[in-house]
Amino acid sequence: MNDNSIFIDSKKNIVQKIFKKNQSIEIQIWKDKLMNLPLGDHFILPGIIQSNNNRIILQMSLCKQSAYDLFQKKDQYALEKKMIHDIQKALLFLNKNGIVHGDIHFKNILFDNNHFYLIDFGLAKHLDYLQNIYDKQLYELYIWSKEDIFRLITLVVFRKNQRLCIKNNNYKNIRKKWVDWFTKHSQDWIFMKQHLYKSFDFSNKIDFSYCLGYFFSKILTTSKRLSPKNGIYQYDILTKLFLERLFLYTSVFFPEIIGLDLSKKKQNLYIRVIQNISIQNDNKNNKNNLYQS
Ligand SMILES: Nc1ncnc2c1ncn2[C@@H]1O[C@H](COP(=O)(O)OP(=O)(O)O)[C@@H](O)[C@H]1O
Ligand SMILES: [Mg+2]
Repeated sequence: MNDNSIFIDSKKNIVQKIFKKNQSIEIQIWKDKLMNLPLGDHFILPGIIQSNNNRIILQMSLCKQSAYDLFQKKDQYALEKKMIHDIQKALLFLNKNGIVHGDIHFKNILFDNNHFYLIDFGLAKHLDYLQNIYDKQLYELYIWSKEDIFRLITLVVFRKNQRLCIKNNNYKNIRKKWVDWFTKHSQDWIFMKQHLYKSFDFSNKIDFSYCLGYFFSKILTTSKRLSPKNGIYQYDILTKLFLERLFLYTSVFFPEIIGLDLSKKKQNLYIRVIQNISIQNDNKNNKNNLYQS
């Protein structure tokens, strides 16, 4: 639900996001969390104004354009690389401070002065503002899996190939393609499993590691059930995360499976980004030695 409106004053170079209600999550996150953190240059720091008609206003400086507009006009490898760099840094910072952004898309990324900024905390989550147990489980899994960051990478990888994305959780066709490919290329499947495993931090998460093992044992079969137990909300979300991550990884490492047109240069960039995130997890996983394959 949209409980805000945007007012742009290009003469004064300011933008006002006007909230009708005081208890908006975006205001709370800014006031109680973000403003107390060393934000550096990751974000546009707003001022908070209480207007006399009971509205509350986030006021910030105007950015030249959104990443959405920018990439409509320019399609440069260097810009894409810079965006991944800047926004990944912002998201890692949020993740470390227990904040899920939850609404990563190109209209929520702005570009000015050769720098990309992340805006719009309207769907953000923090432990202090969760509604119920399901919200809490979702939040914990999103923080644990670095969901925001992988969503950013997925967005970039499929920027010009939206039609290849999986819609409505419909993984039926892609599973058939995975079966075809990986039965012919069994080494690729071993490689994929290792990489996917490394993309999560399983230290102190033995049951999650077990879920991934179960997922691997079923994904190339016709089994409808990919999680070890039916009806457990946390395992259902986890399975969806595994599916999305496998889809991203297979698309980046083996773009030919879905006919994704990636230049070698871009493919190498995405692989480097993915691997950088995995390195820390890999160290932790090895230390705990949970997975023998
Ligand atoms: N500081 C800003 N500079 C320039 N444009 C902005 C700025 N803040 C917001 N906008 C524009 O307004 C749009 C909506 O703002 P946003 O904070 O994302 O609100 P919403 O919750 O309605 O999506 C953005 O997608 C962007 O195009
Ligand atoms: Mg927005």
